[in-house]
Amino acid sequence: MTSEQTTPQQNPSIVKPLKPEGFDLILFGGTGDLTWRKLIPALFQAFRHGTLPAGGRILGVGREDLTHEQYRERISARFREVDNAKQPRDDEFAAFAQQLFYLRMDLSKPDDYQALASTLAERNTETVVMYVATAPSLFTVVVEQLAAAGLNTPKTRVVLEKPLGHDLDSNRAINRTVRQVFSESQIFRIDHYLGKPSVQNLFALRFGNALFEPLWRRENIASVEITIAEELGVEKRGEFYDNTGALRDMVQNHALQLLCAIAMEPPINAHADAIRDEKLKVLRSLRRWTPETLNQHVVRGQYSAGMSFGKAVNGYLQEPGVPPHSHTETYVALRTEIDNWRWAGVPFYIRTGKRLAGREARIVVNFRPTPHAIFKAPQRANNQLVINLQPNDGLEMHLLAEGQAQRQTRTPGSSQTLAPVQLDLDFDTRFGSGRVGAYERLLLDVIDGRLNLFVRSDEQEAAWRWVQPILENWQTDSNPIRSYAAGTWGPPAASAMIARDGHCWNEER
Ligand code: BG6
Repeated sequence: MTSEQTTPQQNPSIVKPLKPEGFDLILFGGTGDLTWRKLIPALFQAFRHGTLPAGGRILGVGREDLTHEQYRERISARFREVDNAKQPRDDEFAAFAQQLFYLRMDLSKPDDYQALASTLAERNTETVVMYVATAPSLFTVVVEQLAAAGLNTPKTRVVLEKPLGHDLDSNRAINRTVRQVFSESQIFRIDHYLGKPSVQNLFALRFGNALFEPLWRRENIASVEITIAEELGVEKRGEFYDNTGALRDMVQNHALQLLCAIAMEPPINAHADAIRDEKLKVLRSLRRWTPETLNQHVVRGQYSAGMSFGKAVNGYLQEPGVPPHSHTETYVALRTEIDNWRWAGVPFYIRTGKRLAGREARIVVNFRPTPHAIFKAPQRANNQLVINLQPNDGLEMHLLAEGQAQRQTRTPGSSQTLAPVQLDLDFDTRFGSGRVGAYERLLLDVIDGRLNLFVRSDEQEAAWRWVQPILENWQTDSNPIRSYAAGTWGPPAASAMIARDGHCWNEER
């Protein structure tokens, strides 16, 4: 055979140009909790919905020595733990599994990144997504090693899970490293709350309808409450959680992103930077903490043994992986204000915790009462707009109306008495169960290169800057952490804090 007749297989130096194929998605932390619980199920749902771009390869990376087939079997076994409607049929899994591959890597070893580079060079993909779902301490290691192996090409996108850092300084350090390797447009800092359908609906409600905008300001709104309550405890994540706590795990990111979605000005268009510019302004307008407000407006708690789902459950200190004298908070409630023209003087209350009385995430916008009352009305009957994120996704408008009960009991000539009634829009019922979940949506956005629902570095830094004084205060605070029994709504001090403003949490009304 002459050299002209040599095929590329026989002589690798003859490079056959490859046609660009879909995407390569590399899951660092490919045998970790997030991958099993969220990422693979979300990718499967996208596959089932026909929205996962064709020609994709999903490459799980882990330390264990697994074959592709063993990796697929593990995934198949994990699928049996997800709820029935989301489990694949055998034929569906077989088809999905053709896209699943595994690569063993030690993330500190440069040679292993070379092996990754060779695996990626097998195909000429349009997009390479590096999803870093590892312990946060490995983020910079992975990113630096990717660069050293020449894997920071323009077609590469990097996804970083939260919490990005442990405090303001570590967040800055990570962002500095990542930005030396990738441009901001390649960095997808994920906050899965931004992918929740209810948050999309909040944007639609505010910026796609004219109805609420004239009301959406201090003149009409008395207060805003953001609750993210979980029934579950720390489960198997005791060790991670104990180094994190509710402030870093939930407030610095999820709760503040919800606050931004409520409080931001209308962006000039729907592009990522227009949205992120407005969120940044909100974060920069959050009232700075003083020793007095830190003391009075922040409550932290930790769950003790109690009842959950009708069963006796451990306190936090008895959870596996938690040190016996830990002071880590599993609950935070706080009150803040936004110092700008739209919101001056309106309190924003945030609370979040584990092992609370229910799994509920919601935002309650409390409107001011009428300036003058001509009807008899029950106390605390102000209008409310409730944006439900969980367990159901929907909107409720609480109004006063003449209720049926009053009509039956009213005596002729008596003045009219109003009762609260509710306008309900349950998106789950309206649109059915096939709605796109948060991770599904966000993963597709990364593959498509849409940054709208991801957090920019300056936004993230502003959020850390705001929580930093709380973290520092807790380090020196000699008051014992407040305890609350599992299965309750948290420490009574959180109700007392909001009661000082004449308000109460939604479930106490
Ligand atoms: C994660 C936190 O970001 O969000 C977890 O690390 C928390 O501790 C979870 O349980 C809550 O998410 P969701 O979507 O179930 O409300």
